[in-house]
Amino acid sequence: MKRLTLILAAILTATSLMAQSTKTVIVPRPMEVTSVKGSYTVSAKSVVVATEKELVRPAELFVEYVAKDLGATLAVKQGDKGAIVLALDKALATEEYTLNISSKGVKIVGGTPQAVFYGLQSLRQLVSAGEITKRGVKLEGVSIKDKPLLGHRGAMLDVCRYFYTVAEVKRFIDIMAIHKLNRFHWHLTDDQGWRIEIKKYPNLIKVGSWRKETIIGHNRQSKIYDATPHGGYYTQEEIKDIVKYAAERYIEVIPEVDMPGHMVAAVASYPYLGCREEKLEVRTRWSISKDVLCIGKESTFEFIEGVLSEVVELFPSQYIHYGGDEAPRVRWKECPHCQKRIADEGLKDENELQSYFMHRVEKFLAKHGRKVIGWDEIIYGGINKSATIMLWNDKNRAKAISLGNDVILTPKYYCYMDYYQTKRPYCNKEGLMIHQNRILTLRKAYSLDPYEGLQPSEYGRIKGVQANLWTEYIPNFQEVQTNLLPRMAATAEVGWTIGERNFDEFATRMHHLRKLYDKNGILYAPYFFDGVDEIE
Ligand code: ACM
Ligand code: ZN
Repeated sequence: MKRLTLILAAILTATSLMAQSTKTVIVPRPMEVTSVKGSYTVSAKSVVVATEKELVRPAELFVEYVAKDLGATLAVKQGDKGAIVLALDKALATEEYTLNISSKGVKIVGGTPQAVFYGLQSLRQLVSAGEITKRGVKLEGVSIKDKPLLGHRGAMLDVCRYFYTVAEVKRFIDIMAIHKLNRFHWHLTDDQGWRIEIKKYPNLIKVGSWRKETIIGHNRQSKIYDATPHGGYYTQEEIKDIVKYAAERYIEVIPEVDMPGHMVAAVASYPYLGCREEKLEVRTRWSISKDVLCIGKESTFEFIEGVLSEVVELFPSQYIHYGGDEAPRVRWKECPHCQKRIADEGLKDENELQSYFMHRVEKFLAKHGRKVIGWDEIIYGGINKSATIMLWNDKNRAKAISLGNDVILTPKYYCYMDYYQTKRPYCNKEGLMIHQNRILTLRKAYSLDPYEGLQPSEYGRIKGVQANLWTEYIPNFQEVQTNLLPRMAATAEVGWTIGERNFDEFATRMHHLRKLYDKNGILYAPYFFDGVDEIE
């Protein structure tokens, strides 16, 4: 009898451990996970059934995702009975789903196909972490109810400092999808390269998409260059293809045309855009240029409207990012056109001059049914209530929140994935990062509290959170991944998970996600997994 009790106790412990393991797999952590009796083994014979036509494509993507885990490509069918059933329930929210696994099979129900896709991403993680048996992958019984905290869960890729191919951009989108991110902020124009084909202004590609060389070493110290041209751009056809690829993964692409600063590549292409009308080169070193768009001349607005007219045709997104960051005022102060604009419009100073510019651009985009997102510097000379503030500077946080505008959080000390990940980097070229002594560990990225210091009545202003990858020191796609991951997983959980979060518990789940990265050939930095990211 005693032996039986011991065996029973052992079985119970093992069962609860297994149940525990299901609970502690998915990143970002779901809202509610309850263990259920029984298990289901997904095998090569398991059919994925889409109860609605719109669910066929998510099902096909899922089948691709788990093909390696299962050693087979599962069949996808439309119907109502099968091993893995996908269904819609309009009573659920846009991104809300339930996922049930029992001895009868798997059922995912979502408010929309997007929500079902998130259920499938969770199932993919469970399959990846599941127990491999002779028959297939055994999944413990579980009932999951899940929905995100924030509507905008983004990742930004700067393709200007270095250019990445269409295939690499798609890979970036694939990585986002694993983490249930839903907004790809594509930073397409900057001083060091213009990356989007604009038919009306061909020089943007002929001239603006190439720089003759690139600085070697850190911008702060170095005066040497590599004597190697660097460039590239996306054709309009390629852009449409990427937008479609992202949409199939329920990711909206938000293009950024950064203005009125960060415009050297455009001014190099069309010198009349600058205050001095000098022939500039596409910038070959990093940091901020004094050469910005001239706001005095009407021809600048004609150019911007010409560019944006094509941008809105390519990107169906509700929002267009119009930049607004880091625009030095020196050229405007000495430019007769800009000074005349200030006088004619009764503006107080150059801050208001920038706001005059941003307001005109916003009005133009509104005519095309679009809203704007801008970096937090747009608040300096006053903004409209309709503009969303992308908050990256701590110093502007209180003011930005107090305005009552919508806010997307990308605070640099938590969300800038180009900072060092450890004090002792030993892979990639992390000896050369943008901030030479600023460390952003996985724990730090995870510790972002979107509502810190806010009254509950202000919580609604926080619309999202986003990981940003600036690429001055990230010359290839391998390093894009190893800078982004695993930290972007932390940002994804900040944006998704409702309720208390705990880093140590998150850390245990990250070990499962790491295996999924490995199986999919996704690269990540080793420091957290090697336990050396926080050593002094
Ligand atoms: C920024 O980091 N310049 C938005
Ligand atoms: Zn000017």
